[in-house]
Amino acid sequence: MHTKQLDKYVGQEVTLKGWVANRRESKTVVFINLRDGQGMCQCILGIDDLGEELFAEAKSLGQESSVAITGTVVADERQIGGYELHATNLKVYQNAKDYPISNKEHGIEFLVDKRHLWLRSQRQWAIMKVRNSTIYAIHNFFQGQDFVQMDAPIFTGNAAEGTTDLFETDYYGKPAYLTQSGQLYGEAMAMAMGKIYTFGPTFRAEKSKTRRHLSEFWMIEPEMAFCDIFENMDTIEAFLRAVVLEVLEKCSAELEILGRDISKLETIAKPFPRLSYDEAVEILKGDKDVEGQNSLKTLESDLEIVNARILEAKTEIAEREDTIAAGGIKKGVINFNQSKIDGLKNELKQLEEEQRNIPNWLKSARDFTYGNDFGGSDETVLTRLFDLPIMVYDWPHEIKAFYMKRNPEDPRFARGVDVLAPEGYGEIVGGGERETSEEWLVEKINEHKLPLDVFQWYIDLRRYGSVPHSGFGLGLERLVAWVCKLDHVRETIPFPRYYGRLEP
Ligand code: 4AD
Ligand code: MG
Repeated sequence: MHTKQLDKYVGQEVTLKGWVANRRESKTVVFINLRDGQGMCQCILGIDDLGEELFAEAKSLGQESSVAITGTVVADERQIGGYELHATNLKVYQNAKDYPISNKEHGIEFLVDKRHLWLRSQRQWAIMKVRNSTIYAIHNFFQGQDFVQMDAPIFTGNAAEGTTDLFETDYYGKPAYLTQSGQLYGEAMAMAMGKIYTFGPTFRAEKSKTRRHLSEFWMIEPEMAFCDIFENMDTIEAFLRAVVLEVLEKCSAELEILGRDISKLETIAKPFPRLSYDEAVEILKGDKDVEGQNSLKTLESDLEIVNARILEAKTEIAEREDTIAAGGIKKGVINFNQSKIDGLKNELKQLEEEQRNIPNWLKSARDFTYGNDFGGSDETVLTRLFDLPIMVYDWPHEIKAFYMKRNPEDPRFARGVDVLAPEGYGEIVGGGERETSEEWLVEKINEHKLPLDVFQWYIDLRRYGSVPHSGFGLGLERLVAWVCKLDHVRETIPFPRYYGRLEP
């Protein structure tokens, strides 16, 4: 019996098993918000129904105590979940004392240290549900289109995405690396099965502390035979649209808990803008407008708006603090003012972050040198001008991986494509068409100073029935972070691994 099934049991007696999310009490009644993993239900435990002994036990329950509560299901729209339980019996599995996470503000480091418990909080619960639905939707999309799911190896003998961020391990006395990407194996499998996708853990050892880097993350990598870069972009677009729309449909309650403005996600139904690298650079540097908007001018005016709003918020905080300090007002009025102050201070934190960021973004956009890869700031500046993901393709070949196909019409460019998510999120997908010419591939492997011998199997794919083929990689955590609008990817994975974090 779970809280999600209560609608079928109105008026009947049921037993719910779960944990005490919180408890309040009066002299004769204890109210428990019971959390059972599926949802929440308010349970009302009255002294007359329970008897003195059980009632005393109910009163003593600490947060996260584990219990079974038996009672009658009553429909009540005002309650979370729409039902409440009028208890007739209580069984305590364990009465937990001094649960370390309370409703007060905890620092992020403290919460990550307590990740094994933090997962129980409502926000984290909602994020994990969104992650789950995202995974399901991803399989749904590919299985619905006859892709074969394959598992690529995790121990590998070679680098796939550059040699600087490999985790090296000892493999029976020989060095091996934790995989950065299953793509190369996916290419082999695509030649056997036509179209495949991997869904597995991947590892990157960069000592990066940004909000979008994990050392261990989950990547989805489809690979398609007889597919060029443009068909690849069509697939990416259809895929992201289907996944996000399915998650929106299944997780409306969870996204509401997270306070997500879903109108910002619903735009995914529109066609994604496709820009060549050259166009993207022009837009970034302010040499070309997007629907009348100029990257640099919007940043400048946004900065003015932010500055003005900071002044306003500070003045209002001061006024309300004066009101409280002056005294002689009712407790309700004090609380009202205090909660306004707390809200304003939160807003101020975000505004001040923008106040610090915007000048950096401006500088980064102005100083951008043609030919470079986009950094996080550049991606932010670009995507702020759009309200849905954009696809940037045809990159200078020097900055892309060795396996990227060169554009036959203009070999300065490699046929890679990055998808940049809006609202400042930036790259969520990287992919492209693969080089099929053995000669050009070998040249690239040498240029990247990769050992040719360990790539012989990969070059074989060009020797025996070579076909145009393409694919891409989606970072699951980056997608979930954007869908939930989180500050950092670490909240999107149950036990995050990133530079400086190995426990719990
Ligand atoms: O752009 P990347 O490095 O591309 C590849 O690995 C290709 N082999 C994919 C392919 O074509 N099959 O990584 C792909 C995606 C990125 O767009 C990003 O979403 C995610 O993987 N990603 C990370 N996510 C979290 N932490 C990291 N350190 C990540 N590095 C990449
Ligand atoms: Mg990339």
